[in-house]
Amino acid sequence: MSGALSYLVQVRPEAMGSYFAFLKQAGKHLDPKTRNLISVITKVHAQTAAGFRQYLLRALREGATPDEIIDALLMAFPALGLAKIVWAVDQLLVLDLPEFRAASLGVPPEWRLVAAVKDLPRRGTARIDCDGRSLFVHRDGAGIAVFDSRCPHQVTDIPHLALKGNVLTCPKHGWTFDIASGACTAKGDRPLTRFEHKVKAGKLYALW
Ligand code: FES
Repeated sequence: MSGALSYLVQVRPEAMGSYFAFLKQAGKHLDPKTRNLISVITKVHAQTAAGFRQYLLRALREGATPDEIIDALLMAFPALGLAKIVWAVDQLLVLDLPEFRAASLGVPPEWRLVAAVKDLPRRGTARIDCDGRSLFVHRDGAGIAVFDSRCPHQVTDIPHLALKGNVLTCPKHGWTFDIASGACTAKGDRPLTRFEHKVKAGKLYALW
């Protein structure tokens, strides 16, 4: 929720409560995927980047494919117009979501060289930039795990400073993760995005 909406909820709780109840009732016959696709379109119409990211990720989580999202944007052309559709696609390109590259552009995932294993901490977490993306690479007795540094909530790029021991806290809204497993341990409800990895000839590769 934006700071402005939070403010209105505080100063006008009854009016805003009725507004949120209305939204919930209004969509009660729609399945979650459709509801979130419609919300994506409303966020594009209002051009709110954070809301767009939030509902885009929800739509994907509820099973919308990248092609369905592009279709929804194009079908809304009479309301959105080309400029807002282009704005939405710019947002998508900035997010650089692997599923969009793979599904909509036909770009297959690639194995990318992350680091030499000897350069990783034996026990601990490194934040490594690789092919335009930042990764948290965690290594302990259980092995290696590779996570996207971007928060699964609204895609905030989480800095290394946000890591204390094994606890990673997103600075934007405080979702907290266990960096060993990627699990979300407080505030949120989704884990960090984990990338498949392999070690070959002493080098760590990740797939996206
Ligand atoms: S973007 Fe909201 S908690 Fe990370």
